[in-house]
Amino acid sequence: LFDALAPQPADTLLSLIALHRDDPRPHKLDLGVGVYRDDSGATPVMRAVKAAEARLLETQSSKSYLGPEGDIRYAELLQPIVFGRAVPADTFVGVQTPGGTGALRLAAELINAARKNAKGPGAKVWLGTPTWPNHAPIMTAAGLTVATYRYYDQATQTVLFDEMMAALQGAAAGDVVLLHGCCHNPVGADLDRSQWRAVAEVVAQRGLIPLIDLAYQGLGDGLEEDAAGARLVLDAAPDALLAYSCDKNFGLYRERVGALYAKGGTPARTELMRSNILLLARVNWSMPPDHGAALVRVILDDAALTADWRAELDGMRSRINRVRQALAAGDPWLAPLGHHRGMFSLLPLSPDQVATLRREHAVYMVGSGRANLAGLTLDTVPQFIDAVRAVR
Ligand code: LMR
Repeated sequence: LFDALAPQPADTLLSLIALHRDDPRPHKLDLGVGVYRDDSGATPVMRAVKAAEARLLETQSSKSYLGPEGDIRYAELLQPIVFGRAVPADTFVGVQTPGGTGALRLAAELINAARKNAKGPGAKVWLGTPTWPNHAPIMTAAGLTVATYRYYDQATQTVLFDEMMAALQGAAAGDVVLLHGCCHNPVGADLDRSQWRAVAEVVAQRGLIPLIDLAYQGLGDGLEEDAAGARLVLDAAPDALLAYSCDKNFGLYRERVGALYAKGGTPARTELMRSNILLLARVNWSMPPDHGAALVRVILDDAALTADWRAELDGMRSRINRVRQALAAGDPWLAPLGHHRGMFSLLPLSPDQVATLRREHAVYMVGSGRANLAGLTLDTVPQFIDAVRAVR
């Protein structure tokens, strides 16, 4: 049977981790996979996470099953951070998922389950391009049809907002539009407040269903600021989905800590969404892994730990933004990076230029030209600028 499988290339992003690890050059720079790094190049366990781990070790009395929804208190405690308030239980469902990826997959399967039962042509998922390379495969693996519109022009480094609006105005009622809540991956350029307002309006007018991917909250302009656009859209849409990740803002990457929130226009519809989400979670992973979400719960249930987590997150964001300002000031070609937010920017470099950067300058970036700027420090910014100048 398995001879019938088609060979698959290794994931190019994840392959970079091993390539960088095996490079003996001491001055190598890792701007590849999206993890935060501090001034020493480390991806540390956050202080509040360490404290929560110690507390959990002392107090956790059982590792018995929880259920397909995972840690309910965790999903509740995240609500004020994500939505700015506790959301009504009769029109919102929140479940824990294995990372943001698990939340996206669950959302996609929920949409597909509804699409299969609905009469009519069924929902498409609209993705802006470029987008996180895993978005389209997750959607199609769940049985959905993907449609695209151009979001960003890499050569001129501009958001193509008019093209985005034209695509959304042409979308059919019930189509799903995937939106990056903040810190766009891979381009780094987000919508401004008036653009978010316009998106919220078209979503409401056309009857579109927003699927918001919020994976970097707190790493752009602040926890509140980074959720503001998503909240506008969620308020405007009767039905909406939000895939959340704590992997980056709590530094819990390999623990896989996410959540799916589903908003239904009526309590009856919300209940339908809830029962289907629980069934889909059960057939995918039965129940999500506990440890990471338990840590987030311990932190958010304790004012002192929450304050320390926020302070450390503020420091991480400031460090990334200082690197951005140094790059923008260091070379006019890099000036747009000063306006981008989050870890990533998409540089107008060809795959050949990216390969030369790796071969000749020990700079590791994704072939698309995406750079994880958290891999730089103020000390290595000049080295990066020199390397980029050499290949341009
Ligand atoms: C990234 O884009 O680098 C991260 O989201 C890691 C991943 O899973 O792709």
